[in-house]
Amino acid sequence: MSSNFFEEQVLSVRHWTDRLFSFATTRDPGFRFRTGEFTMIGLKVDGRPLLRAYSVVSPSWGETLEFFSIKVPNGPLTSRLQHIKVGDPITVGRKATGTLVLDNLLPGRNLYLLGTGTGLAPFLSVIRDPETYARFNKVVLVHGCRHVADLAYEELICEELPAHEFLGAEIAEKLVYYPTVTREPFRNEGRVSTLLESGKLAADVGLKPVDPAIDRVMICGSPAMMTDIKTLLVARGFEEGSGASPGHFVVEKAFAER
Ligand code: A2P
Repeated sequence: MSSNFFEEQVLSVRHWTDRLFSFATTRDPGFRFRTGEFTMIGLKVDGRPLLRAYSVVSPSWGETLEFFSIKVPNGPLTSRLQHIKVGDPITVGRKATGTLVLDNLLPGRNLYLLGTGTGLAPFLSVIRDPETYARFNKVVLVHGCRHVADLAYEELICEELPAHEFLGAEIAEKLVYYPTVTREPFRNEGRVSTLLESGKLAADVGLKPVDPAIDRVMICGSPAMMTDIKTLLVARGFEEGSGASPGHFVVEKAFAER
């Protein structure tokens, strides 16, 4: 009997802070997704699936799946999901979808990946796709968080990926990681939107202020963050892309229980 879901198993769980965790699961060979997409995942509660949209963190070539989640104390799913253990079953929707895909962007020189909080998730897949480096000369991954401890995956980005057997050389040459924090002192401070608007972000990574002629942008964060950055880009002549019509930028909300 065919089903719209796969039943996977939890392989590992990592708690980053008391608000953030990530976990890896088995991957059915039949599960296909494009880099940057999301799918519905969750748990069976009283025999019924309780599901939320989650971006896939892992690369499309990966043999396992990984997801990055917030913990909401009273969230119907995450209040349960945060207690998962190795070996537990996880439901994964067969159908992945989303707008943060390379094909929705016009060709360009630099790719900005702007994520806040768990909005980093789809970009961890994007930065591990060889196609990203085939299409862009420079890939700027910005992760905006409240606190330094929220800057999950820093070790993967800064240490593991540049040493990766196949992708390492290109990542070391083209990927720039720009973490920024808003609620305590750090080497980069301030909201992504403010840093983009002032030109500080571009200057700090050695680029000119963002320009639709050469720059492409993917945005993933809270609704307010998305609106602010979208407004700023549109004012500078950027046009939003979609599957039907590729553009200069694409947007998707970071999926989170409130
Ligand atoms: P701030 O501390 O000033 O609210 P959250 O965990 O609430 O999703 O926030 C993650 C990061 O996104 C925080 O650094 C937060 O900054 C920042 N942020 C919140 N709203 C916006 C916005 N409208 N534009 C850009 N960044 C934002």
